[in-house]
Amino acid sequence: MSVRADGGGCPFDEWARSVRARVEAALPRFLPSEETPPDRLHRAMRYALLGVGKRVRPLLAFAGGEVSGAPSERLEIVACAVEMIHIYSLVHDDLPCMDDDALRHGRPACHVEFGEAFALLVGDALQSLAFELLSHEGLGPRRAEMVGLLARASGSRGMAGGQAIDLAAVGRAIDREKLETMHALKTGALIRAAVVLGVLCGEPLNPEEMASVERFVQSAGLLFQVVDDILDYTASTAALGKTAGKDAAANKPTYVSLIGLSDARTFAAELHSQAVGALAPFGERGERLREIADFIMKREF
Ligand code: IPE
Ligand code: IPE
Ligand code: MG
Ligand code: MG
Ligand code: MG
Repeated sequence: MSVRADGGGCPFDEWARSVRARVEAALPRFLPSEETPPDRLHRAMRYALLGVGKRVRPLLAFAGGEVSGAPSERLEIVACAVEMIHIYSLVHDDLPCMDDDALRHGRPACHVEFGEAFALLVGDALQSLAFELLSHEGLGPRRAEMVGLLARASGSRGMAGGQAIDLAAVGRAIDREKLETMHALKTGALIRAAVVLGVLCGEPLNPEEMASVERFVQSAGLLFQVVDDILDYTASTAALGKTAGKDAAANKPTYVSLIGLSDARTFAAELHSQAVGALAPFGERGERLREIADFIMKREF
């Protein structure tokens, strides 16, 4: 069954609601229950993962699947896998040894609720579980490629590498190229993985089409973090559900600190139009990706 069959044609909000509901129902099925020993770890995993966040990466996976006509049963699995990596990255990002943030998703960060050791283990365990999901035979013959893709996006040449650059850059003046690399790795890599995993769930795309997908993810991934930098500066803690203003407080290089708010907004608009432009060859099939680019651009938290 194609996602078009159950979600095609409806307004974006409705589509996003149905994808989120589907992911919200699937995630707890992939997790051990709260009673399963070691129960404190499983409680902490469920606390960090369930009922939180915008679920942008799952939306991107499902939208990637629209481009390649992917079955929603597969998309559900890859969407959950990439969201597990994302939540693991946030749990570790909030630790005292990293951004030292006590608030996430409008409630105490995982390490505040369960202690640092358990927050570390939650990240470890969510990461492993994500790869266990990708080993699911229902994902078809390209699942080894999917595992390689998500592994690379998560590791030292992807998210973890970007986080390393981020930590090393605290209090330093880095140039624009380095900042772009940092953002492309710490955030862009997983955004890319979400879309490409969704694409890989369906029919193979030709090389020109894959190049268009690549152009989209490069712009959309960077856009996501530029907007995150802007919101850290402009939005409230109540709206964000995480501590606002912490980049400046922690002396982090961001697009706002490097080029100022106004130029950061202009740059975001450029990235948005590049992302949308890259989708032109897909016509209708790229509509959900375009709508998500709009959502990323306009989001307020
Ligand atoms: C926050 O990501 C961390 C970044 C990579 C910028 P999201 O804004 O997607 O986090 P959610 O929606 O709270 O899960
Ligand atoms: C987080 O970047 C990127 C990852 C977690 C990989 P930030 O540190 O800016 O994210 P927030 O603002 O805490 O969500
Ligand atoms: Mg951080
Ligand atoms: Mg942070
Ligand atoms: Mg941030």
